[in-house]
Amino acid sequence: MESAHLIELEDVEKVFQVRRRAGLLRREKREVRAVDGISFTVPRGEMVGYIGPNGAGKSTTIKMLTGILVPSGGRLRVAGIDPSRDRTRLTRRIGVVFGQRTTLWWDLPLRDSYALVRRMYRIADRRYRENLDRCVELLDLGALLDVPVRQLSLGQRMRGDIAAALLHDPEVLYLDEPTIGLDVISKAKVRQFLADINTERGTTVLLTTHDLSDIEQLCRRVMVIDHGRVMYDGGLDGLHAVGGSERVLVVDLERELPPISLPALPDVRVTRAEGPRQWLAFPATGSAAPVVAAVAADYPLVDLSVREPAIEEVIAKMYAEGAAL
Ligand SMILES: Nc1ncnc2c1ncn2[C@@H]1O[C@H](COP(=O)(O)OP(=O)(O)O)[C@@H](O)[C@H]1O
Ligand SMILES: [Mg+2]
Repeated sequence: MESAHLIELEDVEKVFQVRRRAGLLRREKREVRAVDGISFTVPRGEMVGYIGPNGAGKSTTIKMLTGILVPSGGRLRVAGIDPSRDRTRLTRRIGVVFGQRTTLWWDLPLRDSYALVRRMYRIADRRYRENLDRCVELLDLGALLDVPVRQLSLGQRMRGDIAAALLHDPEVLYLDEPTIGLDVISKAKVRQFLADINTERGTTVLLTTHDLSDIEQLCRRVMVIDHGRVMYDGGLDGLHAVGGSERVLVVDLERELPPISLPALPDVRVTRAEGPRQWLAFPATGSAAPVVAAVAADYPLVDLSVREPAIEEVIAKMYAEGAAL
């Protein structure tokens, strides 16, 4: 029986044996633990962000989920299928897009690439038409269908690649850095498209990206990976909480004064002062209202603004601390 979860990983590991030349004749064998005991599940229909620094193990995870790589340990299922044992059967149910390379035929126009995809997957006529029309419309591919892939810009090609991955109606779509190097317009189109297929088709999406604004716009759940381990798995808000991020109240006083001191609010501290302007940091989980009230009560307040923590800073701090949270 198929589980409620479309994707299931239990203590999954991937160890690469690498040989390195260590002198003229000597070769050293070394192990790289690219994925070091990862467990998570993704229910059908969810859109999950899978993020982490370079070399964290994101692509290796995706390659195991597609069956390209065989895990060194642990248990892995996608739609009830063990990917590396039954890759052919799995292929019909998943779509994959690797931002760094194309699955399209370099010398062929997009249209012909799609016709080949259709034959490979034996997609029924009507379904193929519908899916292609839809992708062409939403990804704005109409004018590009007769252009050879090699003449497309990176953004155009990526949109073409995403369409190719969806023509056979996969239940799961893995995207590995789909927005890398894309111009703003292509990025926006890709994001909107992913949001649409997720809501309308219920396609489950696992999205790896460097661009945290992709995640902020698309994913309610985010997993942060580092050194082959899951450091965080939850909502974006929760990430601020565990990351210990701070919001900043910027206040303009009537004149230059010594650093503001609010004994009733021990969590608030002045991080910067320039003439009449002072910066007060407080935990991002708290409200600005009591801070504003306390300042206004004791200081000649002229103006104020609140700065939200950047998700980039939270993540950077998490990586720097390096410890599992
Ligand atoms: N085929 C391979 N052989 C040896 N080491 C590899 C191989 N693929 C990936 N690695 C190593 O595994 C680690 C994780 O790589 P990867 O999954 O590509 O990270 P990410 O996608 O998060 O940047 C890195 O240290 C990388 O050098
Ligand atoms: Mg990668």
